[in-house]
Amino acid sequence: MNVGILGGGQLARMLALAGWPLDIRCRTIDPDPYACSGSVAPLTAIPFDDSTRILEWIKDMDVITYELEHIPQATIESLPASRLHPPAQALLATQDRLLEKKLCEKLSIPTAAFSPVAHVNELRNAIGQLGLPAVLKTRRYGYDGKGQWIITQATPLEPFFGRVGTMVPLIVEQHVDFEWEAALAAVRALNGTTRFYPLTRTHQEKGILRWARPLLPNEQSAGIEPQAREIMIALLEALNYVGVMVIEFFVTANGLLVNEMAPRVHNSAHWTIEGAECSQFENHLRAICGYPLGATESVGHCATVNLVGHVMSMNQLLSLPGLHLHLYGKMPRPGRKLGHVTLRHQDSGNLARSLDQVLKYTKEPLIKS
Ligand SMILES: Nc1ncnc2c1ncn2[C@@H]1O[C@H](COP(=O)(O)OP(=O)(O)O)[C@@H](O)[C@H]1O
Ligand SMILES: [Mg+2]
Repeated sequence: MNVGILGGGQLARMLALAGWPLDIRCRTIDPDPYACSGSVAPLTAIPFDDSTRILEWIKDMDVITYELEHIPQATIESLPASRLHPPAQALLATQDRLLEKKLCEKLSIPTAAFSPVAHVNELRNAIGQLGLPAVLKTRRYGYDGKGQWIITQATPLEPFFGRVGTMVPLIVEQHVDFEWEAALAAVRALNGTTRFYPLTRTHQEKGILRWARPLLPNEQSAGIEPQAREIMIALLEALNYVGVMVIEFFVTANGLLVNEMAPRVHNSAHWTIEGAECSQFENHLRAICGYPLGATESVGHCATVNLVGHVMSMNQLLSLPGLHLHLYGKMPRPGRKLGHVTLRHQDSGNLARSLDQVLKYTKEPLIKS
């Protein structure tokens, strides 16, 4: 099987690595000729808006998939639907925060209250309804907390909107006073069979995922996992989805609100490489290639910690028991995801101690290795 992946970041790299033992050969494209998939899979530098070259490139591919949402609509719609998984409609619905929220609204799935804003007066009116603080976000191209601003009483709206609002379409959301955040990964096969990974607790710092781990028994409160699965099924079915999808949730006293979803493999499920019977990467490939899905149950107690902005001494990291290191081969830059570690232990007490230790070790600012 030849799988073409649009995007050459760490997700493409880990997909290619997962495909290797199954003789699923991944090839990647990215506008950046030095994208990090290139060291493990063939990489061709093609801009995402060059659909002519992309159509030429996919001729040899049995299946086409993508590892990021920021692909122009014209390109995604030009791809042959029979070979593209997840389908174009999944990418189109999730690459724009407004369309994503409207889809949830249509399916009666709860989200934070929101409003599109094209003008400063609309922003003022929306804030009047939503209350403060509120979160202003670009509708497209946001990731790792980029392209979003918290608006408080003190924010002078006119100059602020003048700086950001006149350039790109925006959406404003109610700031959710969540208890914690969670993410659910599921995989759906061509025949509709669906499997769920355990619900995962996530923790973001400055908008970037810092750590993620499956819920502990005492966090399984008030039936949130069944609610998360119900929401997932509604979205997967509405989108006629094939592959791995992840939904990010705010956990509130009144249950779950959908924050956003990703039509692809996702950072919150990296722990599945060592911590699940079949990883999210392998299961995505199995699903889009039409193979039977792998088991999604967890193995041991796991947590993933991202290495953001710098990588500390490999000797120190690799000397920790139960630690698995994944480096993406990217140039260090503040706020950039350079790798992750997954900790796996036989009991949750050891995992908690190990997680504390690694969080201390890997904190920015950095110890240069
Ligand atoms: N409406 C909101 N209320 C409270 N926190 C928010 C809200 N929107 C985003 N955040 C915080 O910012 C993080 C990143 O925002 P998100 O919308 O998921 O964008 P990204 O695409 O960058 O991941 C969230 O995980 C959450 O911690
Ligand atoms: Mg997010």
